[in-house]
Amino acid sequence: GAPVEFDVSQVEPGQLVRVEWRGQPVWITHRTPEMLDLLPENRPRLVDPDSQVESQQPAYAQNETRSRKPEYSVLVGICTHLGCSPSYRPELAPSDLGENWKGGYFCACHGSRFDLAGRVWRNMPAPTNLVVPVHKYESETLLVIG
Ligand code: FES
Repeated sequence: GAPVEFDVSQVEPGQLVRVEWRGQPVWITHRTPEMLDLLPENRPRLVDPDSQVESQQPAYAQNETRSRKPEYSVLVGICTHLGCSPSYRPELAPSDLGENWKGGYFCACHGSRFDLAGRVWRNMPAPTNLVVPVHKYESETLLVIG
């Protein structure tokens, strides 16, 4: 499939926008400084906090935020368990997801949780972090996926 271009400046802080690439949903999430500050707190609860499973992201996204630009997360929106599409749950502590939830993505099919970097929590059906697709920035705000 052809690369997909997207101007990230249209994504409001805290907002997620879905685009389609190769027939798959790709999420572009504009993370606020507050959201980014929460990421390190999740580490003890994560399967792969340092994104060491190489198949799940390019090398340039093998960092704490799993991104090229910390404020923009680019993820394939498909659960690594059986392929449902998780929902965006940026709330800090919804009671239905239990205490310690810092917001992220929740897969209603079998309950897997991912943080705002797409990193899967421990003891969930999903085995690995969400996939970061190949991408780059052609300018300050022009994202190219693929
Ligand atoms: Fe997401 Fe099973 S498909 S938890």
